[in-house]
Amino acid sequence: MSQHHEFTTGGVRRFCILGTGYVGMASAIGFAEFGHDVVGYDIIRERVRGLQNGVTPYNEAGLAGALHKHLATGKLRFVESLADAALAAEFIVIAVGTPSRADGSADLSFLYSAIDSLLDLDLTGKTLVIRSTVPAGTTDFIGERLRGTANVVHAPEFLREGSALKDFLDPDRVVVGASPLEAADDFLTLFAHLDKPLIATSPREAELIKGFSNAYLALKISFANEVANLCDAVNADALAVLSGIGNDTRIGKLFLQPGIGYGGPCFDKDVRSMHHIARENDSSHELLAATLRVNESQPRRVVDLLAEEVGPLDGLTIGVWGLTFKAGTDDVRDSLAIRIVADLVSRGAHVKAFDPAVTGPHTMIHCELVHSPLAALDADALLVLTEWPMFREVPAVDVAQRLRKRVVVDGRNTLDHEALALAGIRYRGMGRRTKVATSEKTIAMRSKGVAV
Ligand code: UDX
Repeated sequence: MSQHHEFTTGGVRRFCILGTGYVGMASAIGFAEFGHDVVGYDIIRERVRGLQNGVTPYNEAGLAGALHKHLATGKLRFVESLADAALAAEFIVIAVGTPSRADGSADLSFLYSAIDSLLDLDLTGKTLVIRSTVPAGTTDFIGERLRGTANVVHAPEFLREGSALKDFLDPDRVVVGASPLEAADDFLTLFAHLDKPLIATSPREAELIKGFSNAYLALKISFANEVANLCDAVNADALAVLSGIGNDTRIGKLFLQPGIGYGGPCFDKDVRSMHHIARENDSSHELLAATLRVNESQPRRVVDLLAEEVGPLDGLTIGVWGLTFKAGTDDVRDSLAIRIVADLVSRGAHVKAFDPAVTGPHTMIHCELVHSPLAALDADALLVLTEWPMFREVPAVDVAQRLRKRVVVDGRNTLDHEALALAGIRYRGMGRRTKVATSEKTIAMRSKGVAV
């Protein structure tokens, strides 16, 4: 990892980071990597103690090494007292969770309790940076509560799990919402050396940039899934179609991979929150609603594809490869793979699941966990639910020899379908061309001299 000790302006600044989830940890290590002094705090004491001893709260490539490095340099430390963390800080960064409530609105209780706990401290002259994803108007509301003490800005994050630190150090853009606009300058300056677009805007606009960015990415995925579903119906290859579409630079190739639907702790929660805000404000919300609906039905579609191939699932054993919401993370929160496993079990199937990042027993997973991809093949059929690269390494002949019904449904289009077909596997992907089109069937039969 490169060092960033050159500043266009500024110098070493003092940070307090509240919250040690993905966003908090990426910010804490990221600012230390930029050369600043960082103190981290979390209400979960075991986490703080773990971090003091170099134990990361989750697994991500490069995270533990970067933590150890900055604990050793003294640029980063973790404390159990909020006052100790915040008092000397110039920037107090709030990175606590804002999960979904049952009605789709964002639950801001962690955020407000963090703000309440800061009220006893003298915040004069400090900048409070709201990094959590929040509905439009939240930062202004907090600014009113702290009027006359801290400067309150909103600096949304656009980090992906699995590459959160890298995304912090190399962002596409940095957005800061502040009122007045000049109040964004000090925070934006921290990123000036990266030579990326720095966007100062109002807090409300910054909140909407974050919400609509995630909504648009989720919309693109739902669009790709709808394309794949239609390709299945008319017997076309969705990957060819989507590649043809994505080559239009106005559209772009990224986030057009069809699959089992988007999962994880952000997209569903953020689209639901935007949908809720639009409804509350009597604003149109058709695309947001459709994005959610397509994503809601996609996991069932994967199981229906399997049932089309093997018949009723009752009494069958189904192998599953992948439980995390994407490869490169050990996170199973809001993973649609977990929902699919529950659907298989409710249809009477016995499930043997393998995921390289899910090793021990897990409260959310109700099936047999096995410890290798091959062990999951002691089954009638296989479902692939996460695109871990190691799955592509399993030879097609091993898959064919072990699976009793020789059926693979690849919910991520990640396996080599031609090798599997050659090995005698009946392969179904998401929008992959699997049936012989009627017109082609007719041509093939004619060429064999069969009257049609
Ligand atoms: C997302 C945003 O990308 C990030 O900017 C934001 O800050 C947090 O939410 P993350 O949830 O970590 O990041 O994962 P991401 O890589 O975006 O994938 C989300 C889900 O969409 C995964 O389940 C993934 O498998 C799925 N996905 C992604 C697709 O199904 N198709 C795609 O083309 C891309």
